[in-house]
Amino acid sequence: MNLLVVGATGTLGRQIVRRALDEGHEVQCFIRDFQKAAFLREWGARLIRGSLAQPETIPLALEGVTAVVDAATARPGDGLGIERVDWKGKVSLIQAAKAAGVNRFVFFSILDAEKYPQVPLMDIKRCTEKFLAESGLNYTILRPCGFLQGLISQYAIPILEKQAVWVMGEASPIAYMNTQDIAKFAIKALSTPETVNRIFPLAGSRAWGAYEIIELCERLSGQTAKVSKMSMGLLRGTQRTARFFQWTQDLADRLAFVEVVAGGQPLDAPMDEVYQTFDISPKEITTLEAYLEEYFSRIMKKLKELDYDQRKIRKKKAPF
Ligand SMILES: NC(=O)c1ccc[n+]([C@@H]2O[C@H](COP(=O)([O-])OP(=O)(O)OC[C@H]3O[C@@H](n4cnc5c(N)ncnc54)[C@H](OP(=O)(O)O)[C@@H]3O)[C@@H](O)[C@H]2O)c1
Repeated sequence: MNLLVVGATGTLGRQIVRRALDEGHEVQCFIRDFQKAAFLREWGARLIRGSLAQPETIPLALEGVTAVVDAATARPGDGLGIERVDWKGKVSLIQAAKAAGVNRFVFFSILDAEKYPQVPLMDIKRCTEKFLAESGLNYTILRPCGFLQGLISQYAIPILEKQAVWVMGEASPIAYMNTQDIAKFAIKALSTPETVNRIFPLAGSRAWGAYEIIELCERLSGQTAKVSKMSMGLLRGTQRTARFFQWTQDLADRLAFVEVVAGGQPLDAPMDEVYQTFDISPKEITTLEAYLEEYFSRIMKKLKELDYDQRKIRKKKAPF
């Protein structure tokens, strides 16, 4: 297939490009900054310049494309915001894909989006799902709940660097999944007719709470975490204040996510039917334990090598 990947430089998007190339697809990527995307070109993908915030750049990127995989979302702090990128940009992308005669459209939403109409990104995801379903395109909507990759900056690095690990009081457990596994589902959808015009949750083997993850990181790293508790009340207050000012609107939209994890309800979903429909075995899916074990063993090995090299240098420098 001739694939257009939108959001190809992102955490998930790059895994989609990797998987698609490995499976022999022709891949082109819709890119804002070519320098940042040089690695995608080295992998064998074609780069097309454009931005979802500039709808006039979209049609050219769709020429000759048979399927679109959209893994884009607004970057916090780049000044565009979710309304412009995740809503208006996606509407333009879907309309342009329909006009270009694209055969398949894979969209990434978020698990339980319909349950949080008060959370701007969740509401936008729900509206985009509806818009896509009514567009006349052959679509597949995938709804992950969290990425294993996010745990490295949230827990593993602060613990290794003896920095504070911030934990929200009564936060919900989340069934994180590896983005490499999510990419498997996205690419498999393109060759699985049973996935056309359907919505699927994507949840890891089980939901993990923050303290369980911290305990696991402590065991694997041999370090003790410095846990700092964030109050939900304070976060809600900050979000309400940030909403007053246009320049903090983006921050307010993101802080609104507190409502999703504040309920205490696990972000998780049954996966049996999903594995069956995609003909993917749950045994192929990375567990959170295996992911963190692999990460820490790699880092601990690197740290030992560094320590050994430094001792060697110190020995060489010593006068006697
Ligand atoms: N992260 C999670 O835990 C999670 C959970 C559930 C669902 N999801 C969904 O999964 C998808 C991928 O998330 P992610 O965390 O991998 O995203 P990410 O790492 O933040 O990457 C976002 C991507 O979107 C691109 N992008 C941003 N603004 C753009 C614009 N104006 N025009 C074109 N491209 C633009 C970025 O390009 P640049 O490199 O140029 O900025 C980047 O490639 C999203 O739809 C997200 O909502 C994520």
